Amino acid sequence: MGMSDVKAEVVAVFPNKVKIVVDDLENFRIAEESLRVGSYLKIADNENAVLVAIIENFQIQARDDGSQDYVIEAFPLGILRDQKFERGGDALAIPPKTVQPATIGDIRLIYGSSLPVKDRFCFSRLATNKEVEVPVDGNKFFNKHIAVVGSTGSGKSHTVAKIVQKAVGATGEYTLNNSHVIIFDIHSEYRAAFPEANFIDSASLILPYWMLNGEELEEFFLDTEANDHNQRNVFKDAVIQSRKAHFTGGEGDKNRIHLDTPLPFDIRDVLDHANFRNTEMVDSGEVYAASNKEKAGQPKLTQGSLYGRLTNFVNRLESKINDRRLDFFLGEKSKSISFEETLRSILGYSTGKQQNVTVIDLSGVPFEVLSITVSLISRLIFEHGYFYKRLRCAADPQEKINNDAPILLVYEEAHKYVPNSELSKFRASKMSIERIAKEGRKYGVTLLLASQRPSEISETIFSQCNNFIAMRLTNPVDQGYVRKLLPDSLGTLIDKMPAFKQGEALLVGESIALPSVVQIEVCAVAPASTDIPYWDLWQQQWKELAIDKIRDEWLRQ
Ligand SMILES: Nc1ncnc2c1ncn2[C@@H]1O[C@H](COP(=O)(O)OP(=O)(O)O)[C@@H](O)[C@H]1O
Ligand SMILES: [Mg+2]
Repeated sequence: MGMSDVKAEVVAVFPNKVKIVVDDLENFRIAEESLRVGSYLKIADNENAVLVAIIENFQIQARDDGSQDYVIEAFPLGILRDQKFERGGDALAIPPKTVQPATIGDIRLIYGSSLPVKDRFCFSRLATNKEVEVPVDGNKFFNKHIAVVGSTGSGKSHTVAKIVQKAVGATGEYTLNNSHVIIFDIHSEYRAAFPEANFIDSASLILPYWMLNGEELEEFFLDTEANDHNQRNVFKDAVIQSRKAHFTGGEGDKNRIHLDTPLPFDIRDVLDHANFRNTEMVDSGEVYAASNKEKAGQPKLTQGSLYGRLTNFVNRLESKINDRRLDFFLGEKSKSISFEETLRSILGYSTGKQQNVTVIDLSGVPFEVLSITVSLISRLIFEHGYFYKRLRCAADPQEKINNDAPILLVYEEAHKYVPNSELSKFRASKMSIERIAKEGRKYGVTLLLASQRPSEISETIFSQCNNFIAMRLTNPVDQGYVRKLLPDSLGTLIDKMPAFKQGEALLVGESIALPSVVQIEVCAVAPASTDIPYWDLWQQQWKELAIDKIRDEWLRQ
């Protein structure tokens, strides 16, 4: 019995479900393709409109004569008409006539027909059918923020690497194209995947503290929990004074200097000033009486208003200035590097070292300054976009493209910089990244956030994401959270999330023809895996450890 003899009938149509009864499941298939949950069906009502639906479940139904029917429930995806696919299933005239498994050609039409070839950006294939590439609209994909979520080991880092490799790899006729990606790499994974990249780690990073804005400066140098006004006022005045003292420009510009102006100041000036105020003795207006033989007639000194009140602050400043681990921030190099050089280095625009990808390896950055480091770099990139747009619009009021060198910022383990927490130690990075989430698009700065704990990421940020790559996710709280963010129209696709294989993902968003379960393509050059092959290693011969060298490394930081 061939396909044409199979009786397949639509017995019920609901807005989100089509029920089909088939008498012979064995032959109800195309060529060697067997049907399973996730396979596509096409349901025709007339010559040129075909409803495409995805199988959600099978059931067996016994007939009176002892034979069996198969009931298929399928979720309507959209209509194929004149070789074009449109989402939504309400255009089907009732009663539908024929039901057939979709051919590879049909499925390719679903994914390809709506997108001109030049707009296609492709990094995955259909999980149920690896022959079908699933392109996304490259402009829509990178223009909106992207979230990659999944439990550890589900394949997030590989996915991020694949996306970035493909994105920067389309060089066409140029040796250097105009793609710009900056990766915040917390586990030293990405150097392996991008050996050519502009690589910055804690040893080569130079981030001048004087580029911090007011909030960041206060967060870094002050004990913000203590909320001490004296401390804050002394600090502010000293920073501004020091900036003015180091300023070489005109008087007008000098008067405009404030706490946020990214101009050099010397933190030692601030320390000196704080020390001075902490030990200051002032003239009381009185003089010693004649009875005091030694000091008669001399002015009486009394403790200044802040005498002894800044001891904590002074100690804090001293310990920061002397902390070698903070050299990238407070050391000599950060004093001599210019604003422009700093910006060039993080954007991959250093002279003679132009690179599409910049990997900022944060693994050696002390935890207590991680937030401020990420905050400063993120903010600099955002503000770069902002001022670049201003320049472009000033040059040409008709300018339609705000930023002709747009940037993708990648945050691995994003819950570490932008958690759903009000704790002050995360405040700086959270503020900078939330601002990019809300306004970055206008200035050509898009976020790609990868996280194993989506429920722990700031909601402000997540709700701004328009493209989701949801990989295997086992934690029920995270599953529930992701479920809420995704559109209702996904049917049972989302229930598969806990069972995904490595590299499998639910791809959802404005950039894709329809939500789909895909297999991300394998990386040409993979990121460094954090998986340690215990079993292999444990079977090898006992290894000597250079504990003295480990100690030296320990003390060096
Ligand atoms: N697209 C993929 N195809 C096949 N295997 C993959 C894919 N992505 C990841 N893997 C495998 O899964 C492992 C874990 O991937 P990784 O990206 O490090 O996960 P995560 O970042 O989510 O912890 C990798 O070492 C690799 O072997
Ligand atoms: Mg990872």
